[in-house]
Amino acid sequence: MGINSSLNVKPTGIDGFDTILGGGLPAGWFIALRGGAGVGKTTLAVQYLIEGILKYNDPGLLVTFNEPLAALDAVCRNYGWDLKGLKEMGELAVLDFSSTEMGIMQQASRLREASLDYVTQKIIDEVRRTGVNRLVIDPLNTFSLLFRDLFEIRKELHRVIGILWEEKCTTLAVYENTDDHATNVHNPEFSTEDFLSYGVINLQYMLINSIRERGIEILKMRGLNHSKRIHPFSITDHGIEIDVKNPIVFND
Ligand SMILES: Nc1ncnc2c1ncn2[C@@H]1O[C@H](COP(=O)(O)OP(=O)(O)O)[C@@H](O)[C@H]1O
Ligand SMILES: [Mg+2]
Repeated sequence: MGINSSLNVKPTGIDGFDTILGGGLPAGWFIALRGGAGVGKTTLAVQYLIEGILKYNDPGLLVTFNEPLAALDAVCRNYGWDLKGLKEMGELAVLDFSSTEMGIMQQASRLREASLDYVTQKIIDEVRRTGVNRLVIDPLNTFSLLFRDLFEIRKELHRVIGILWEEKCTTLAVYENTDDHATNVHNPEFSTEDFLSYGVINLQYMLINSIRERGIEILKMRGLNHSKRIHPFSITDHGIEIDVKNPIVFND
């Protein structure tokens, strides 16, 4: 028996993504989805939830910190995704910390640990209440921005990751890189959250013959025979489309 057989790999429903992942994402894993601003993290993460609902009748939970649901909903309509409609039908659960909730959190920021617990407990409660198998946290950086004690964040994140594993809730944790456009594609840096994650997916802009291209790379996915290449992808009217056949070749 290979390692893969025990992983319970589930297809995401995003064609090229499943191909380069080597089948899909292992159930219950906490996976970091990283990249600079505008590269396509939110699009891929939301698409993961949408495909779960439409293809597998698998409801999901979206936790949004920066963009209010109304703004996300407006953008997603361009891809033909009706977030509000799916929410009303009970197929998509949403925790929107972007506006009012964030105000509460900032008031509570004097009690940093208490407020970190407040956020993580709300997420865990919602995962348990809804019984979802797919979770997106967009972005996870907010934890580091609001709560400065790195040790507390790591400890709490470790606890949450363990609970999500027990709940068999596969999580895409969006992480926005500070440098917008990765310059050294050969040496992508790892962050604290990466080391806690079972998997790391990197989205990046690359400058190829003076033209910016988007690329996706599976940096880490323990036990999976995933692609080791950087694959070009584009954002279309239907969301993200990955070119699995023509990985990017660098002449170095
Ligand atoms: N309908 C569309 N067709 C093509 N590209 C789009 C479309 N809608 C948005 N985009 C592109 O997607 C980008 C935003 O992607 P997003 O997933 O929000 O990035 P991130 O979350 O990484 O900041 C925009 O900057 C734009 O280039
Ligand atoms: Mg985003």
